[in-house]
Amino acid sequence: MTRQLALPFLLAALSLPALADSYSLPKNVAFEEECTSCHIAYPPQMLDARSWQHMMNGLANHFGTDASIDDRRRTAIADFLARNSGGRKTGRTVDAKGNPLLRITETARFERKHRDVTAATWKRASIKSPANCAACHAQAAAGDYSERSISIPK
Ligand code: HEC
Ligand code: HEC
Repeated sequence: MTRQLALPFLLAALSLPALADSYSLPKNVAFEEECTSCHIAYPPQMLDARSWQHMMNGLANHFGTDASIDDRRRTAIADFLARNSGGRKTGRTVDAKGNPLLRITETARFERKHRDVTAATWKRASIKSPANCAACHAQAAAGDYSERSISIPK
């Protein structure tokens, strides 16, 4: 195989696991206890390390709520998120100015995957917010976003 052929072939092979769109949730007690009471456990893989760092430094004002926790737990969760943060799959999660995005739902990958969902659908009472992943992804809490478990509520 020539060099020109080998690279695309290798890249295609590497991206195969992404097809399953399953984000395994590494076990972390502090994360489960502190970050899943108001919403599902968002997959650490969906934001890059810098985005998580900014979020973990601003928990007192977390999307209009106070999600602050003691420093020891905060550091432990921040380490956990950094270790498992996105990379190849998610890319950098920054806005047009290069500032870290705090919302998965504002990332290019999210927008690309959801371009067929209309604005009216996001606003349905049964959905309320794009951040409400579990409204449409029945297995979101387990990190499974595959097509077979998607069902958009009326
Ligand atoms: C007190 C409740 C509360 C706690 C605790 C909490 N959050 Fe949130 N979180 C929210 C709310 C409210 C939103 C905004 C939801 C929306 O827009 O519908 C949010 C949104 C988010 C989003 C962005 C979702 C999107 O739009 O892509 C992420 C990521 C997130 N939280 C991570 C965390 C992490 C990590 C922790 C633990 C350190 C945590 N949250 C703890 C209330 C909470
Ligand atoms: C209004 C319902 C709805 C909500 C809410 C929603 N999604 Fe989706 N999601 C979809 C639909 C529809 C698709 C596209 C399926 C397709 O066309 O293959 C999709 C696709 C995806 C995919 C790609 C799946 C694949 O197999 O290619 C991922 C990953 C994903 N969503 C993650 C999320 C996350 C994370 C959240 C919450 C932050 C979320 N979604 C919220 C409806 C939703």
